[in-house]
Amino acid sequence: MSNTQSQAYPVWSNRLTYILATTGAAVGLGNIWKFPYIAGENGGGAFVLMYLLCILLLGIPIMIAEVMLGRKGRANPIHAVLAQARAAGLSKGWSFIGIMGVAAGIMILMFYSVVAGWSLEYVVQSASSSYMDKTPADVAAGFGELAKDGSRQLIWHSVFLMATAAIVGLGVTRGIGNAVNILMPVLFLLLLSLLVYSYQNGNFSEALNFMFSADFSKLTGDSVLVAMGHAFFTLSLGMGTVMVYGSYMPENQSIPGAVVTVAFLDTLIALIAGMTIFPLVFASGLEPGSGPGLLFETLPIAFSKMWGGAFFGAGFFLLISIAALSSSISLIEPGISWLEKLGIKRMAATIGLTVLCWIGGAASIYSAEVFDTLDHLTSNIMLPLGGLLIAIFVGWRLGYTRVRKEVSGGSNMLFNLWFIVLRFVAPIGVMLVFYESIKNILASYGII
Ligand code: PFF
Repeated sequence: MSNTQSQAYPVWSNRLTYILATTGAAVGLGNIWKFPYIAGENGGGAFVLMYLLCILLLGIPIMIAEVMLGRKGRANPIHAVLAQARAAGLSKGWSFIGIMGVAAGIMILMFYSVVAGWSLEYVVQSASSSYMDKTPADVAAGFGELAKDGSRQLIWHSVFLMATAAIVGLGVTRGIGNAVNILMPVLFLLLLSLLVYSYQNGNFSEALNFMFSADFSKLTGDSVLVAMGHAFFTLSLGMGTVMVYGSYMPENQSIPGAVVTVAFLDTLIALIAGMTIFPLVFASGLEPGSGPGLLFETLPIAFSKMWGGAFFGAGFFLLISIAALSSSISLIEPGISWLEKLGIKRMAATIGLTVLCWIGGAASIYSAEVFDTLDHLTSNIMLPLGGLLIAIFVGWRLGYTRVRKEVSGGSNMLFNLWFIVLRFVAPIGVMLVFYESIKNILASYGII
């Protein structure tokens, strides 16, 4: 069994596993923590509309291209792009897309695992009622204490990385496939139970109002860019994750159909997360706030005042941990798949990359600068650049016929529509996001 696995390139056992794995990669801290508050801050419903448009015009077209590259290449992002470039008589340099993707995955995991570690700590704190009888100020201060406690963060960071490594080390179908088949249904159930809890105990109408009443005056040029950037991050685009998962996709499956399903689920979960978090925040008379404070300061205060707060608080932080775990396995997989292709055993590759992530994570625990640099460099530069290159590579360089063959099914008209969007709309959109990110970075260093 393990012998056949090491020889043949793995394939997900069915379509559902592919969908769950990719949805697991997409659904993460971006959905549960970031989306709700950026929606609230940028004009609620007006922003949500803008974001949906970005998912449609930018996210889905690029995701189809990225999955296609993986499935056609049946290899890790570096070798998949290399094979396509060779077949189309293009420069080997295009494999830079894959190289940057593998690096971005490792770099994101270096801080993602630290944040996931915080939520593990809050699972325990909630379940043991440790913040239940405290004043709001003390509950909020608890997070500050954790942020200063390097060794406690290091322990959780290690636990989370070991869980990630244990799953990934087992292999694509036995490890990741089996894990997502359990984790994702648990995630859906937890989210729905928390939504009901929130509906019964929170201020649902104020939350609805905050998230969906369209205030177009708050929708500035900047918020359009925030929507675009987030569409990217939330679908895990531009870094080889959806490419490597696509490489394990069965041959006869429609790529656009699968991609639309994943994008739909990802958006739905982000909306439900908002409708779970804000009713609790408003019912406790708190401000929606932003940044890590929303999850680790404001929500514990809300739970500390509520009926069943310890139980549902633990459930909520477990939900975040699971969402983070199903993303973290996707962050490390492109690198592992690449090392395997170089002849390194999967277990050894897993251990090597995990140690690397552990070191980077330890550095970001002890240095906020390392944490922020990893975050900004990946989300603001590497992901949009990867997406841009993917759109150009598939839209402009591979050639219509080659691409049409792989993205089969569907009418010619739909295909052509996608191809036009991929060629024109997506690159321009990404370039705008990219331009803005660079401007912000230069401004933050006082260069412009
Ligand atoms: N999509 C994840 C989220 O919304 O939290 C973040 C992410 C995961 C980005 C995996 C990139 C990635 F490869």
